[in-house]
Amino acid sequence: MTQITTVTTAPIEGQKPGTSGLRKQTMVFQQPHYLENFVQSIFTAIGGVEGKTLVLGGDGRYFNDRASQVVMRMAAAQGAARVIVGQGALLSTPAASNLIRKRQTDGGIILSASHNPGGPNGDFGIKFNTPNGGPAPEDVTGRIFEATRTIESYKILEAQDVDLSTLGTHALGGMDVEVVHPVSDYQALMEELFDFDALRALFASGFTMRFDAMHAITGPYARAILEGALGAAPGTVVNGTPSPDFGGGHPDPNPTWAKGLMDLMMGPEAPDFGAASDGDGDRNMIVGRGAYVTPSDSIAVLAANFAHVPAYASGLAGVARSMPTSRASDRVAEALGIACYETPTGWKFFGNLLDAGKATLCGEESAGTGSNHVREKDGLWAVLYWLSILAATRKSVAEVMADHWARFGRNYYSRHDYEAVDSARANALMDGLRAQLATLPGQSFSGLTVAEADEFAYDDPVDGSRSEGQGIRVGFDGGSRVVFRLSGTGTQGATLRVYLEAYAPGPDGLDAAPEEALAEVISAADAIAGITRHTGRDGPDVTT
Ligand code: G6P
Ligand code: ZN
Repeated sequence: MTQITTVTTAPIEGQKPGTSGLRKQTMVFQQPHYLENFVQSIFTAIGGVEGKTLVLGGDGRYFNDRASQVVMRMAAAQGAARVIVGQGALLSTPAASNLIRKRQTDGGIILSASHNPGGPNGDFGIKFNTPNGGPAPEDVTGRIFEATRTIESYKILEAQDVDLSTLGTHALGGMDVEVVHPVSDYQALMEELFDFDALRALFASGFTMRFDAMHAITGPYARAILEGALGAAPGTVVNGTPSPDFGGGHPDPNPTWAKGLMDLMMGPEAPDFGAASDGDGDRNMIVGRGAYVTPSDSIAVLAANFAHVPAYASGLAGVARSMPTSRASDRVAEALGIACYETPTGWKFFGNLLDAGKATLCGEESAGTGSNHVREKDGLWAVLYWLSILAATRKSVAEVMADHWARFGRNYYSRHDYEAVDSARANALMDGLRAQLATLPGQSFSGLTVAEADEFAYDDPVDGSRSEGQGIRVGFDGGSRVVFRLSGTGTQGATLRVYLEAYAPGPDGLDAAPEEALAEVISAADAIAGITRHTGRDGPDVTT
C-alpha cells in the first residue's frame, strides 16, 4: 500500500545554496524536515515535478541511501513520471550530468558534499542540476532559497524502500524508478571522446600508473575503464571501494589529502603516472614521477595538446577558467588564437559558455577540469586526457611540463587556505582590503609594486547577468598576482583562500621551487591583507 501524506512544516534557517548546492554537517541534514524542506523547495523552484523525469544519485557517503529514498518518495507523491537512479543510489557527478543530458531529462538531484569528509560527523550535501546537465545557475538557486523561506508543507509517499540494488524498472506509487548501472553510460561517452586503442597500446607497452579513488565514487569507474577496458595492471586503482565515510579520510585530491599518492610519486618506486579524484568524482589531481601538476597548469596543458584527443582535434572554440586560477591557460589561448574567458569561482558559471559553444575546455584551480562533453568538471576525463597526451608523445609528465613552460613561460602558483576562521574576523579582513583598493596601485610591498587592484565582478556574455563580490585581486608589475576570497563551500566559520601567482617568462627561472618563486608574493599578501593579524594564525592550514 502506498499513501500520499501532506506534512506540515515551517521554514528552516540557513538553507541557502552555496558554491555547489546545500552543504551542511550530516547531523544538520538529519534533523526533522531538513532534507524534505530543501527537496520540496527544489521542486517548487522548478515549477513542480508533475510528469517530469529526474536523474538521482550520489557519492555513496553516509545518509546517501536514506536521502535518495526520501527524494524518490517525494517525487512520486508529486506526480513525477520517472526517476533514473544509479544502482545503489550511486552516480559520480559527471556521470549524473551525462545521464541528465543523454536521457533528455528535466534535471537531476545529486547527493554529495564533494570533497568534504563524510559520515555521521562529516558533511552531507544536495544539489540540483538543470536539464543541460549543469549545476543550477543563480536565478534557480535564488528561487530555491526563496522557497525554503516560505515553505508550509510538503507531500511524501508512505511506502517501503525501493530496491536499488537490482537493475531494471520498479514502481513507486505511480512513478517508475529505473535503476541503471552507474558506469556504463559514462564509459560509453569516454569511448566516444578518446582513442581507447591508443590508450590500450600505452598500457600494453608497460606504462604504469596508480589511481587513488580515495574510498570514494570513482573506484568503480576507474576499475572498469582503466583496469577493465584499457588493460592497466590489476591494482592500478587503489582505495577503489566507495565507503560511507571514505575510509575516515578527506576525499580531496590535493598534495595534502592525497599524501600517500604524493609520497609514492616522489619516491624511488614511483610508477609513470599518478592521479586521484574526489568524493563525487569531479575533481582530479595529476602527478608524474617527481612532478606534481598544479590544476592551473593542467588546464593549460590540456588546451595546448588538444590535437591528441579525437573529440577536440578539430580545434577548440575557447578556454575558460575561474578568476583565481592562474593565467597559464590565457597564454595558451593567445598562442592558439582562441577566446579565453575569466569567470567567478563555481562550475555553474561555465554552463552558459559551454551551451553557447564559446568555450570547449574549462578549468579551475580547485582541481576541476572539464569540457563540453558534460556540464560538470570530470576527474576521470582529465586523467584520460592526460593519458592521451602521454600516449601520443611518449614523454614523461615532467618532460611535458618542461616543454610547456619553455613554450609559454611558467605561472608559479599556490593556494593558502585558512580554515574555520571566525566569520566576523574573516569579513573584517575582506572589508579592510576593499577599503584599500583605490589607494593600493603604486604602493610597494616586499619589493613588489601594485599595478592594479579591484573586486572581481562578472558580466556573463551570454545572458547578460552580473555577479558581484567575486574576490579581490591585486596585480603587481611583472605579472605576479594575489587573490583573496572567502570560500563558498565551507561548513564551519569562514575559509580564507589566498591565491598566489608569479610569472616567469623563461628561458631562465623555469625550474625554481614554487615556494621560492612565490616568496615575495606571499609576503606582500600578508603585508596588504594583514592575514596573521586578522586570523590570529601563523600560517595556512592547507597549501595546495
Ligand atoms: C566546488 C565547485 C567548484 C569550485 C569549488 C571551490 O568544487 O564545484 O566549481 O571551484 O567548489 O569553491 P570554494 O568556494 O570553496 O573556493
Ligand atoms: Zn567534487
